[in-house]
Amino acid sequence: MPKLSKKTLVVYYSKSGNTRRVALKIREKTGADCYEVEPIDDYQRSWKLYWIAVKHFITRKRPKLRGSPPNFEAYDVIFVGCPIWAAFPFRAWTIPPPLLSFLYQNRFQNKKVVPFATYDGYAGRFFEIFEKKAKDARIINGLIFKNVPRVSEKILEEQTAALLKKVAEANV
Ligand SMILES: Cc1cc2nc3c(=O)[nH]c(=O)nc-3n(C[C@H](O)[C@H](O)[C@H](O)COP(=O)(O)O)c2cc1C
Repeated sequence: MPKLSKKTLVVYYSKSGNTRRVALKIREKTGADCYEVEPIDDYQRSWKLYWIAVKHFITRKRPKLRGSPPNFEAYDVIFVGCPIWAAFPFRAWTIPPPLLSFLYQNRFQNKKVVPFATYDGYAGRFFEIFEKKAKDARIINGLIFKNVPRVSEKILEEQTAALLKKVAEANV
């Protein structure tokens, strides 16, 4: 497993735990600090969630977040993860409103930022959109993890190792 010698932070939003699972795996392998993005009023888990999310994309709602973000100055590499939301059929969205709030509220001046996501089958233009929202960051495109609940620990370890190798070798 490649070690990231730099001080690492993993920021993530996770509604149903898949992205959290990946974030905690990255933490396990790198010793990173973790920060969970938590909206004050989080979305209810129901069949209506998709349409509520769509409405919030259309109206550009930016949910208020709990707490205050970590001091990025302390970190060299910042992973930022989220589930893919409403990429189909709206390819230009994909990043859930709570993570958009986080990206709008923070600047990543000169930091290496590694976006990653979890999804069920269609991820739209996640990396392209992320890059537009993460101001001033030096982006290293991470990985999009498919069907996380069905992935064994062994496969998740391998996928995470591939992600960390990519980051360790990136020259940005
Ligand atoms: C509102 C909503 C919209 C979603 N839209 C998509 C989508 O467009 N494409 C896709 O592959 N999965 C989509 N999903 C599935 C999630 O991306 C996937 O299950 C993800 O791993 C959930 O991560 P989490 O457990 O960290 O919240 C959507 C889920 C929700 C709740």
